[in-house]
Amino acid sequence: MIMQREFTAGAKYCNQNRVKKTFFIETWGCQMNEEDSEKLSGMLKKMGYKKTENKIQADLIIFNTCCVRENAELKVYGHLGALKKLKEEKPGLIIALCGCMMQQKHMAENIIKKYPFVDIIFGTHNSYKFPQYLNAVHQNNSSVVEIQDRETGIVEGIPIDRESTIKAFVTIMYGCNNFCTYCIVPYVRGRERSRNPVNIENEIKNLVSKGYREITLLGQNVNSYGKDLLPRVGFSQLLRRINNINGLERIRFMTSHPKDLTEDVIDAVLECDKVCEQIHLPVQSGSTNILKKMNRNYSREQYLNLIHKIREKIPEAAITTDIMVGFPGESEEDFEETLKLAEEVKYDSAFTFIYSRREGTPADKLETQIPEDVKHERFNRLVEVVNKCSARRNRAYEGKIEEILVEGPSKNDSRKLTGRTRTGKLVNFQGDMDSIGKLVKVKITRANSFSLLGKQVQ
Ligand code: SAH
Ligand code: SF4
Ligand code: F3S
Repeated sequence: MIMQREFTAGAKYCNQNRVKKTFFIETWGCQMNEEDSEKLSGMLKKMGYKKTENKIQADLIIFNTCCVRENAELKVYGHLGALKKLKEEKPGLIIALCGCMMQQKHMAENIIKKYPFVDIIFGTHNSYKFPQYLNAVHQNNSSVVEIQDRETGIVEGIPIDRESTIKAFVTIMYGCNNFCTYCIVPYVRGRERSRNPVNIENEIKNLVSKGYREITLLGQNVNSYGKDLLPRVGFSQLLRRINNINGLERIRFMTSHPKDLTEDVIDAVLECDKVCEQIHLPVQSGSTNILKKMNRNYSREQYLNLIHKIREKIPEAAITTDIMVGFPGESEEDFEETLKLAEEVKYDSAFTFIYSRREGTPADKLETQIPEDVKHERFNRLVEVVNKCSARRNRAYEGKIEEILVEGPSKNDSRKLTGRTRTGKLVNFQGDMDSIGKLVKVKITRANSFSLLGKQVQ
């Protein structure tokens, strides 16, 4: 049974600062980190801090780091180097580093040696203690480094300062048990822990009462939700419970693992009116041989069967994926199987990655590493195939009328509005500015590779 407890520290540190200090937060990585940053922000606002987008003027700078690939780490080093001068000019500035990269002890030690001007370092398991660390730095004028080796249950009730007022991410489970041989996530996020469904429901009801219309349920592998709960609650049961929440319009979820996506989940997507027809189903490779070496626990055929089942039951569903090239031992034939699979599935979109060696993972120890130039050449070929499929899938929307949840003015043209279809396609359209936060009907007039254009009709 997972220990679940209430967050208390926030209130203790409330309103300590008479003059409002400001904080700047930069987040790398996935939605897990985004959500952690929203919680850090929530705690800081409770403490009387104000958020700023101006890094130079901030009293506190936080970098929430990711280590899933080497380039994620290199970005952090680049940004950190640039802070040295700022800290010399502003000795009162506090610099805090957290997130997955810091959860690796050797990394945190390296940072302390190379960047001694960093004031606070903490990992993913103890971010709820951030108010304490900040207070200690203020009081003792010394730095704080605390990396907790293991996860300790779930802390509920941490205030969250969300970016959007219309759609929200809600974490339903933390950690991962899968240990894909290339992946660092299980080492830095710990084992799977599911949140109590009542806490999830209450959080969503509260969001709906504040005007939120769409929620995305988050977890590294949402299909194994509830396996650690007593009584057990399956993911499809959770979807059906959330579907009953009045006032909520749309439910999305990610990420699904092909080995655990069962038929009852596909049925729940089909039968629950609020659950959107969009499934993110990372394939990683189209070669059974490579999938085995990755410890993914499904074959090319099993994956394709699953896609077939989804398409049969929900023909309009958008299917998206993650694909990696250059895993150790990947031959030209293995790679061609990936290309063929991408063409066969006709993904709506795909995140494509070049395999990156991660210290401490089994794949890093393999002697069959692929040369960089081969990896890049394969990557370019894959991107071409994937983009062609996306463009084709998007073109099928031309002339159709789609339901859009309006999120706000378009980023590139503020006279236009932006929102998404139920299938998750981004649409920029001419429409009524009063529609923000509402569901409207939009006629799709043109399709680009990565977005759609349209005009509001209702
Ligand atoms: N839990 C999710 C996503 C985890 S990380 C899942 O299982 O699908 C997001 C993506 O990063 C992965 O799907 C994978 O494609 C990619 N990734 C993870 N480790 C990587 C590595 N070492 N090199 C390159 N890409 C990696
Ligand atoms: Fe990483 Fe695999 Fe877990 Fe996804 S399922 S987070 S790729 S170990
Ligand atoms: Fe990165 Fe951590 Fe997410 S390593 S991808 S931020 S879980």
